[in-house]
Amino acid sequence: MEKQKIIIGVTGGIAAYKIPELVRIFIKAGHDVRVAMTAHATRFIAPLTLETLSKNRVITDMFEENPDPLAHISWGQESDLVIIAPATANFIAKAAHGIADDFLSTMVVATTAPMLICPAMNSKMYANPITQENIKKLNNKGYLIMKPGEGELACNAEGPGRLPDPIDIAAQAFQMLQTKDLKGLKIMVTAGPTIEPIDPVRYITNRSSGKMGYAIAHKAAMRGADVTLISGPTNLKPPSGITLISINTAEEMRNAVFAHHTDMDMIIKAAAVADYRPALSADQKIKKREEDISIKLVKNPDILSELGSKKSKPGQILVGFAAETENILTNAKEKLVRKNLDMIVVNDVKAKDAGFDVDTNRVTFIFRDGTIHELPLLTKDEVADELLDRVREIRGKDNELHC
Ligand code: PMT
Repeated sequence: MEKQKIIIGVTGGIAAYKIPELVRIFIKAGHDVRVAMTAHATRFIAPLTLETLSKNRVITDMFEENPDPLAHISWGQESDLVIIAPATANFIAKAAHGIADDFLSTMVVATTAPMLICPAMNSKMYANPITQENIKKLNNKGYLIMKPGEGELACNAEGPGRLPDPIDIAAQAFQMLQTKDLKGLKIMVTAGPTIEPIDPVRYITNRSSGKMGYAIAHKAAMRGADVTLISGPTNLKPPSGITLISINTAEEMRNAVFAHHTDMDMIIKAAAVADYRPALSADQKIKKREEDISIKLVKNPDILSELGSKKSKPGQILVGFAAETENILTNAKEKLVRKNLDMIVVNDVKAKDAGFDVDTNRVTFIFRDGTIHELPLLTKDEVADELLDRVREIRGKDNELHC
């Protein structure tokens, strides 16, 4: 990773003692670190410690002798990431309401950089609905809020409120700083199951949790893409910074896909679309009268095939998934050709640690030219990054061909 400008804002909590370690991790990784502290933070840890470790002047006072009188504006606008750690309940409340009454809070109001907030406080203060509301406000604004750790707190209370370990804060920060290699690209991802109603209370669906598709959407957004996620019903929190379109049925997914596909650079179809739907969906709940009943199923539109048959934008990359239980590679290759895809991601959905509703997946990529790339068992986030690396390569090759 190239050298990045990171600002760490320290507010007045006992967990401030962990911040020298955080600064050290970033400095060791070759980044430029600047620290701003609230007046209360300086009661817990000396600015000199952070100044020595960061090799940069620490700002604690808006009006102190300062070679850059506009630092409260320029810091947050010239940096790649702002981290507030520890973030006290008071600071979170101020940030949620745009209060700018010292250097750090003014810099936060003025910043255009991504923000990582790491709350740390007494568990009752953390659980207080006002604090939770303020956290939600910041989250809705696009700030990433790290969940505090649980356990014994400095105030002798037990519960959530501990500042995560510096190594975990740094891992989250490195993820946020990841190279924006997909910047400028519009990517559509489909995820989750579709549900096909039988009557107002019953439906046909499948075991897709949406985890695979959401991981792709999340990673693509982290890497700078403009992401549209079309999702069937899931219990997942949508990744921040994406456009979410929620649908229920395959027909609705088709309509959403075709309303947005024309200007997409890449379309990645991880959704488990129901191949069939009940021919008729009853208006009223079907009564339990007969000993057995039959439900006639009719074919749903094959969205991916339709996309493959009319690629709308020159160079548009189309990636399908194949959920297979037998003849895995043969079936997947057949789908790749029949649906006119650039790449297909095949997973054996009978495996316990892969496919539906688990956090890991073991996939094989098959490309249009017949190349096969088998991956080991990875987390779905890791699979997402591998997949995005490959589509970026395909796009690079295509662009070379178009030149
Ligand atoms: O959501 P998770 O719990 O994380 O599980 C992940 C997953 C197993 C759902 C995912 O990894 C996966 O394999 N997704 C594709 C599931 C699927 O429907 O596979 P398929 O082989 O039936 O379909 C092939 C491709 O055609 C898929 O890209 C599918 O989105 C698409 N399709 C299928 C049917 C249809 N009517 N329209 C489609 O567009």
